[in-house]
Amino acid sequence: MVRIFITGSSDGLGLRAAQALSQRGHEVYLHARTPQRATEARSSCPSAKDVFIADLSSTSETQSLATQLNTSGPWDTIIHNAGVMHGASAQGKGKEGLPKLFAVNTLAPYILTSLVDPPPKRYVFVASGMHHGGDATLRDVQSATYSDSKLHNVLLAFWFARRFAGKGVTSNALNPGWVPTKMGGSGAPDDINASIETYVMLAEGSGVSEGKTGKFWYQSREARSGGSGRETSYTTKADEAARQDKLIEILEKISGVQPPE
Ligand SMILES: NC(=O)c1ccc[n+]([C@@H]2O[C@H](COP(=O)([O-])OP(=O)(O)OC[C@H]3O[C@@H](n4cnc5c(N)ncnc54)[C@H](OP(=O)(O)O)[C@@H]3O)[C@@H](O)[C@H]2O)c1
Repeated sequence: MVRIFITGSSDGLGLRAAQALSQRGHEVYLHARTPQRATEARSSCPSAKDVFIADLSSTSETQSLATQLNTSGPWDTIIHNAGVMHGASAQGKGKEGLPKLFAVNTLAPYILTSLVDPPPKRYVFVASGMHHGGDATLRDVQSATYSDSKLHNVLLAFWFARRFAGKGVTSNALNPGWVPTKMGGSGAPDDINASIETYVMLAEGSGVSEGKTGKFWYQSREARSGGSGRETSYTTKADEAARQDKLIEILEKISGVQPPE
């Protein structure tokens, strides 16, 4: 049995993963944006232990979520799954004036990973095949597009893998594929069950993922660095330590939150 926290688990992949992990006997903690969404999440996954509430477009709510997680820890696995792409949840600014898409997709996973103490055994950053189109120059990250933010997720996963190396903490990136959710749309072509199996494998640290860190996963397989497959490979630019360092420096400056030692 493992203790797992999943951001953005009121809907879509996060909810499906929570249901699958609960059914496997794990202690799953949900996360929702508002009290109303928390009630809905709880009724969709009644076997979950609890629901945390925080709007990740607000840095202060994200920081207070980290405090709550520390009170309820230690954790085995934290999955940074919440994400926005279009519509009201992605457009405009959050409470502190940061663009919502940047705050939810890029800054929240940075803040949570930096502040959760002790760190869990496993971090999972949910990226996307669309990271291939992300701006690797990291110019003006606050104006990130969805693709930019998904590249940030891979850079974060790999940077934290380096930072936690030898400390019993793994950090991996996951590409769920293009699957039918609110974000993916009903016509999405990929197999959502294969995505959920990958969430489960990484949350448990089981199968071929056991002990692995700093990797990128798609349909329960390690994806290659470089190569032409949009889903089965990731950009070599994410492997560059200097680029990972640069993103962390930028996010530290914007948030005022220091990364863990
Ligand atoms: N679906 C795909 O084809 C696909 C492909 C590649 C990558 N991904 C990635 O997979 C992850 C999950 O996506 P999904 O398809 O499951 O999307 P989804 O169905 O839209 O679900 C997104 C989840 O994130 C939550 N969320 C959004 N804004 C939030 C905020 N400000 N604060 C807290 N929670 C917030 C949503 O809560 P509400 O419902 O209350 O807004 C929901 O629970 C994302 O990181 C996405 O980028 C998805």
